[in-house]
Amino acid sequence: MDWNSRFAQRTALMQRSTVRELLKLAAQPGIISFAAGLPPAEFFPAQEFRAATDDVLRSHPERALQYGETAGEAELRDWIAERSSRAGCPVRHENVLITTGSQQALDLIGRVFLDPGDVVLVENPTYLAALTAWRPYGAVFSPVAMDRHGLCVSELEARENEPAKLLYCIPNFQNPTGVTLQASRRRQLIAWSDRTGVPVIEDNPYGELRYEGEASPHLLDLAGGNLDGDQSRAQVIHLGTFSKTLAPGLRLGWVIAPRAVIDKFTLAKQSMDLHTSTLCQHIALELGRSGVLETHLPRLRQVCGERRDAMLEALEHYMPAGLSWSRPAGGMFLFVRLLEEVNATALLSRALAHGVAFVPGEDFHAAGGGQNALRLNFTGIPVEQIREGVRRLSVAMAEAS
Ligand SMILES: Cc1ncc(COP(=O)(O)O)c(C=O)c1O
Repeated sequence: MDWNSRFAQRTALMQRSTVRELLKLAAQPGIISFAAGLPPAEFFPAQEFRAATDDVLRSHPERALQYGETAGEAELRDWIAERSSRAGCPVRHENVLITTGSQQALDLIGRVFLDPGDVVLVENPTYLAALTAWRPYGAVFSPVAMDRHGLCVSELEARENEPAKLLYCIPNFQNPTGVTLQASRRRQLIAWSDRTGVPVIEDNPYGELRYEGEASPHLLDLAGGNLDGDQSRAQVIHLGTFSKTLAPGLRLGWVIAPRAVIDKFTLAKQSMDLHTSTLCQHIALELGRSGVLETHLPRLRQVCGERRDAMLEALEHYMPAGLSWSRPAGGMFLFVRLLEEVNATALLSRALAHGVAFVPGEDFHAAGGGQNALRLNFTGIPVEQIREGVRRLSVAMAEAS
């Protein structure tokens, strides 16, 4: 059978990246990998998961093991709505959709909003898997510059007449740069969205992993408005996930949006997976209600913050002159700018030979560029190995120069 002749045309837009292939080598024993975006596995609340699963299966197995509603289990939607409500911006049950990780929410956005040729404004660089989720729907990406205060909203304002369907941004501890969008720019962005009518996708997987400083308000809260009515001026679709706070293996995320959007997403999700695992939803609810999540978060912040500090110290110690890197106040990544002429993909081959891995910056750039940049994850590796990994990276760099 010639399967290639049978695949739908859109599958041609599902590209395998050469870097991803190279990074398979990062899984070999002995490699210190700063490549994957992993939370610290030694600190997963495994005992608490066991106890919660036991409770759920003892007290209501008939619900936890049954088919459920596409939009999600009512109590979990209530719990998320309550936890996400702020003065002036109440979130109700009807504004919440449970998804199979926030990655599914990204795909839902593609399915529901994007026709071929639609322009999506994205931070430059941005989350690679948002680009790969939307390419098959024919999205055309229009990158917007970032600096150390996040998305350059002034650039958006200067390009106000360009047509765009959506704007996608990660305001807190962005993937891949670790940068956070300044509070004043958040207001400016919402004002831009008000003027242009372009909805904003606020992807917030890392917001709760803050190691220093004060949180800025969510775009969802700044937009305000009534999420419920047809007259809603709420223009933000907010994505959340338990992947970085509890465990990515749960595959549990959520969308907060006006009802009209939630209803359309629910229709689209129905044909994808009927609903997200009821068992996982009940376990997460139990962990939330019993306070496990709230006691786990400070522990997690402590560990991840120590790892961030270790990586910043190691970079300071080992990196050659002329390089610069972000200093994230939270999240899981930092971004290194190499000398102009250094190619990070070529450097990766050398780095792997020295037993260390990272993700080259190029793939995060929707329209090319970023060859001389790389992303480092600092949360998945213990402190002692972080220093050794950065040392190995410096050896690979010295060889390449
Ligand atoms: C910016 C961003 N969005 C979405 C996701 C997907 O997360 P999940 O599907 O595990 O909730 C990630 C994961 O790394 C991410 O970095």
